[in-house]
Amino acid sequence: MIRFFGHILTSLGSKVLIALSGLALAGFVVFHMLGNLQIFQGPDALNSYAAFLREMPMALWTARLTLIAVVAAHIGLSVRLAVHNRRARPVGYVTRHYRKASLASRTMALTGSLLVLFIVFHLLHLTAGVVDPSVHNRLDVRGHRDVFGNVVHAFQNPVLVLIYLIGQAVLGLHLSHALSSTLQTLGMEHPMLERLFRGAGPLIAALVVVGNTAIVLAIAFGLVHA
Ligand code: HEM
Repeated sequence: MIRFFGHILTSLGSKVLIALSGLALAGFVVFHMLGNLQIFQGPDALNSYAAFLREMPMALWTARLTLIAVVAAHIGLSVRLAVHNRRARPVGYVTRHYRKASLASRTMALTGSLLVLFIVFHLLHLTAGVVDPSVHNRLDVRGHRDVFGNVVHAFQNPVLVLIYLIGQAVLGLHLSHALSSTLQTLGMEHPMLERLFRGAGPLIAALVVVGNTAIVLAIAFGLVHA
């Protein structure tokens, strides 16, 4: 047992846990985007979906608590690894050569921190209704929470559109490098698999960003309205 936890605390063990927790979070983000795309089917589809999720409080809270634990582990281990790596190289490089590293890989700490800020804002906005309480508790004609109306109302505001578009750009950068490097960390090093997975990260990130951005822009340009 002690050896097991000792291994987790090594940098390789931490990297594997960061990779696995990151994969779980990426799974959530894809699932969440697919659920939100129901906005294109109209208020009934999105509001019934949101009501369906809330009809199972035990499952919902288990999923929420698991998500919080996974996010905490992912952030905690990433910060710990970054501090460990910095201590192992106390003297900074004189010049930084970034020729091989992509923009996404060089900015993981920055995009990760901005993503946390975006998620906190997003939860205060659409889950807690703190940002705009005037619409948060409205019900639709069937008596369901009007999640569709809340989202439409949100993206008729250019400031919120800008915040969410910046959030998507940050998410795309973080996710594209994270997914590619996760698969490498997990030891999928066969040349063909490696090429496949190096492309899969940016592809999945692009699909999530395009899906989420489509929602924001379709509302902003009046293609989806209440
Ligand atoms: C345009 C993009 C997005 C839209 C339209 C959107 C929409 C929503 C809505 C409507 C809710 C509240 C659901 C409810 O109260 O029933 C919600 C909750 C949430 N969203 Fe998003 N979201 C977007 C992007 C994201 C992203 C990029 C992330 C994470 C990186 C995220 C993470 C969450 C989380 C963790 C919750 C809380 C879930 C819960 O209540 O259990 N969302 N989102």
